[in-house]
Amino acid sequence: MAKINIGLCGFGTVGEGVFDIIKKNREVIFKKTGIEFNINKILVRDINKYSKKINKYLLTTDINDIIKNDDIHIVVELIGGVDLANDIVIKSLKNKKPVVTANKAILAENGKNILKIAKKNKVDIFFEASVAGGIPIIKIFKESLSSNRIQSFYGILNGTSNYILTKMLEENKEFNYVLQQAIEKGYAEADPTLDIEGIDACHKLSILTCLAFDTLVNYKNIYTEGINNISLEDIKFAQELGYTIKLLGIAKNHNGEIEARVHPTLISKNSLLANVKDAYNAVFVNGDFIEKQFYFGKGAGRYPTASVVVSDIIEAGINIRNNCQFRRPIYSVFMEYMQNKKMLKIDNISSKYYLRFNVVDRPGVLSKISGILGKNNISIEAVIQKGRNIDKEGSVPIVMITHEAIEKNIKKALKIINELEIIKDKTILIRIEENL
Ligand code: NAP
Ligand code: HSE
Repeated sequence: MAKINIGLCGFGTVGEGVFDIIKKNREVIFKKTGIEFNINKILVRDINKYSKKINKYLLTTDINDIIKNDDIHIVVELIGGVDLANDIVIKSLKNKKPVVTANKAILAENGKNILKIAKKNKVDIFFEASVAGGIPIIKIFKESLSSNRIQSFYGILNGTSNYILTKMLEENKEFNYVLQQAIEKGYAEADPTLDIEGIDACHKLSILTCLAFDTLVNYKNIYTEGINNISLEDIKFAQELGYTIKLLGIAKNHNGEIEARVHPTLISKNSLLANVKDAYNAVFVNGDFIEKQFYFGKGAGRYPTASVVVSDIIEAGINIRNNCQFRRPIYSVFMEYMQNKKMLKIDNISSKYYLRFNVVDRPGVLSKISGILGKNNISIEAVIQKGRNIDKEGSVPIVMITHEAIEKNIKKALKIINELEIIKDKTILIRIEENL
């Protein structure tokens, strides 16, 4: 029988979940692995805060009690943030300790360097919980789909944003109220602007894009917009037109040129992704031989996330017991095959668009707007013009769905339209994704 000792860094939403699962499922895990896993040390910021829940002798505020402790076999980083987390991961790897982390921010910021250090020191790093919470999507991309070329994928990758959009639509709730609920439920990041500005989804998309297309991706080259400017008005207009708004991470391989973007997206109300609600995540994948597949599960929250962290710990433990590492490349292919593929600029993508203009209620306004769109090669598929439902500023909304158009043409047209004196507010633009 093998005994593996764990140093747990962080005892928050996920850290406490890992502690509980290892304690409650000790026997189940032992029967599956022949390994007894013990948590030997827990790094926290303030021992008094946690000493009612946890035996004081387990707690420490000194990272060296974990990363330099010869009795610790695996380091689990769950403190979040970038600086200290990165330090813990790198120092642990350099001290030949396998690492498990759920931290997508450090992988997006410094993944290439971290993986190089792991490789150089011949020590494993696992990061399943960094993308899509409880869905084992990293394993699916790296292992289950390794016989296929992934051609495109679409993901609901941020539980907090999906929870907010769901509650706004179904319960008519205000954005800030629902965000507060998501924070209380443990879905949001310590800094929730990462969730609502789309940055967390962008970090995750960069990780999955590396794995899907065997290319190094700088997350700063991924076009990113969050849900912070989505209003109930747009959610309702979208419904009227047969669509639901979701924050999607979208990645496509166009013969070696990579399109990757994160933004609120109108998708058909009837699609599988549109019916992914609350803090659930989902990934819809197209591969050359699998055709279409759809993965669904809780994308945030204590136990779904902690359960994949524990699976990573088990994987690391089995490798230690069997004296091996890297049974698979850290990315989907060996480092020497990773490329630096060109990223398609957002101006060059082609999409359908939802446009909401706030205009003065006057004859001729609609034809003026459609004339400018037409001059820029943009044709209109549908229009909703609400009657004399004038708001206090004296404006009325006109909503249009365009046919497929090039983004730079849309932007050029909107620049001209937004300067017209008939326009009362900046026009709202939301991209549409068909065929989902
Ligand atoms: P959390 O609830 O904020 O917990 C973080 C823990 O780390 C807390 O115990 C915190 O202590 C501790 N900590 C923070 N800074 C520290 C420092 N300088 N020194 C020592 N301890 C420190 O965060 P979480 O939600 O568990 O998330 C942890 C990681 O998992 C993040 O990378 C997150 O992105 C990722 N993740 C989270 C979820 C989720 O659903 N929550 C899902 C997937 C991935 P204090 O209590 O003193 O602040
Ligand atoms: N804040 C993240 C989310 C946690 O809401 O999806 C899971 O990564």
